[in-house]
Amino acid sequence: SSAISDPTDNFLQCLSQDPNATYSDFVFTPKDTEYSSVLESTIINLRFSTSTTPKPLAIITPLTYSHIQSTILCLKHFKIQIRIRSGGHDYAGLSYTSSDQSSFVVLDLKELRSITIESGQNTAWVESGATVGELYYWVSQESQNLGFPAGICPTVGVGGHISGGGFGTMVRKYGLAADNVIDARIIDANGRVLDRKSMGEDLFWAIRGGGGGSFGVVVASKVNLVYVPEKVTVFSLSKTLEQGGSSLFNRWQYIGHKLSPDLFIRVIIQPTLNETGNRTIQVIFNSLFLGNVDKLIETVTDSFPELGLQEKDCSEMSWIESILYFDNYPKGESIDVLRDRKPEPKVYFNAKSDYVTEPIPEEKLEEIWKWCLEGDNPILILEPHGGKMDEIEETRIPYPHRKGYLYNIQYFEKWEDESSESSEQCISWMRKIYENMTPYVAKNPRAAYVNYRDLDLGENDNADNTSYLNAMKWGKKYFGDNFRRLAMVKGVVDPDNFFFFEQSIPPLIMSE
Ligand code: FDA
Repeated sequence: SSAISDPTDNFLQCLSQDPNATYSDFVFTPKDTEYSSVLESTIINLRFSTSTTPKPLAIITPLTYSHIQSTILCLKHFKIQIRIRSGGHDYAGLSYTSSDQSSFVVLDLKELRSITIESGQNTAWVESGATVGELYYWVSQESQNLGFPAGICPTVGVGGHISGGGFGTMVRKYGLAADNVIDARIIDANGRVLDRKSMGEDLFWAIRGGGGGSFGVVVASKVNLVYVPEKVTVFSLSKTLEQGGSSLFNRWQYIGHKLSPDLFIRVIIQPTLNETGNRTIQVIFNSLFLGNVDKLIETVTDSFPELGLQEKDCSEMSWIESILYFDNYPKGESIDVLRDRKPEPKVYFNAKSDYVTEPIPEEKLEEIWKWCLEGDNPILILEPHGGKMDEIEETRIPYPHRKGYLYNIQYFEKWEDESSESSEQCISWMRKIYENMTPYVAKNPRAAYVNYRDLDLGENDNADNTSYLNAMKWGKKYFGDNFRRLAMVKGVVDPDNFFFFEQSIPPLIMSE
């Protein structure tokens, strides 16, 4: 017998001991022809899909919970790391790659995606491998008056998205996706399947916004569905700097978070060409109103008259159609694209996030526009908080950015060619604007959104040697004072740190 055994062989041998599993049905190794297509199927960010990106020993696509249980136990036994993937949208690719040299296996939940609407109770059980678009689709099939408040991009996976919070166009009315979770099923490091009652309130708290991947495999969530009117109204109004975009944006900073909770107006800032062919900044006000057009005009005339919104700028539609509108589908596209899991276009991208607690002084805006113009293809997306977000206690779930947070900024830049030159250029532009923005954004700690994962904020060393103090560098930014409780929950439910990755929560174990 050979003295050195192959970790993949050991692991597969271990899996095959489960008498209920024909493992060729749900295990893909590099020897299988489908390996690459399964791996690439939900990768959005091409930065983590190159020939040098570390690849998994195997991809497991469990068909049953028992496949997950045996995967966890076998990986633990052979000390192989796990990466859990639902929708694959992680900004740093952490659900399907690993930046150190450790061996890892991807547990991909794409086959576990059933959605069961509990009629009459306005709740749904949704498995983690479903996309939020599928959830929206099936909820809208149940009733025109039901919706769910989660992210704008329909291809985002329920598993990762809810684990990190999840906000979209109804955040001001109903809060985060994670605020609307009332039960869950998780498989822990010992392979036990737990629900809210058996996992206990500490773990149930941690998995609603504490970031995916640190505590166990969340296999399903029970969510509260929310009321939406039969007709909603959307608009997108664009103003260049020459058209007064800067002062309108300034006004928005003061009122975007105070408007009626039925009115969500986000701002998208990007370079464009003006009428004379020069590069300028375009400020786009992109909005969902939970009501008809007349009521919208009345609301905007009362609270944001400077916008000059007119009926011709607006379109009435059903809530489910507004999902396609926000994802830039052409008018008339069938909502079936949501059910059919139409994939997102793949691009190279990089992003960072910030929160603003005091309006940026108007006289400083010009400087910010200048920095934006220095980028190749940058987009700043600013999403208002306020409304329901102000009412929820900062400790209720791990997401801490509540009352007093006016809006979130996402700095986003994408590029289309593989050259390291484009990538270096974009990444250095992003680091620079992030540095320059320091005086204008939340400080002590500077705040960030875990669903816009950013490894520049810091990384764990390795699974055997994580440090709570080191992890505070990013943990405090994502979770504020909730970070300590997250680390303590981790210390209880996964003291051996099986669920480890670059930015996993480190176990904090209190000695007597
Ligand atoms: P993925 O599968 O990559 O998982 C993300 C993280 O969660 C990883 O660490 C992973 O290990 C872990 N994880 C995944 N499934 C798990 C499970 N079942 N149990 C435990 N851990 C699990 N966000 C937002 O709030 N609003 C928005 O509008 C958008 N829009 C948007 C657009 C686009 C194009 C992208 C790429 C991303 C967004 N996001 C967003 C961010 C998104 O919410 C974030 O990337 C989520 O973590 C994605 O969840 P996935 O399941 O797709 O990711």
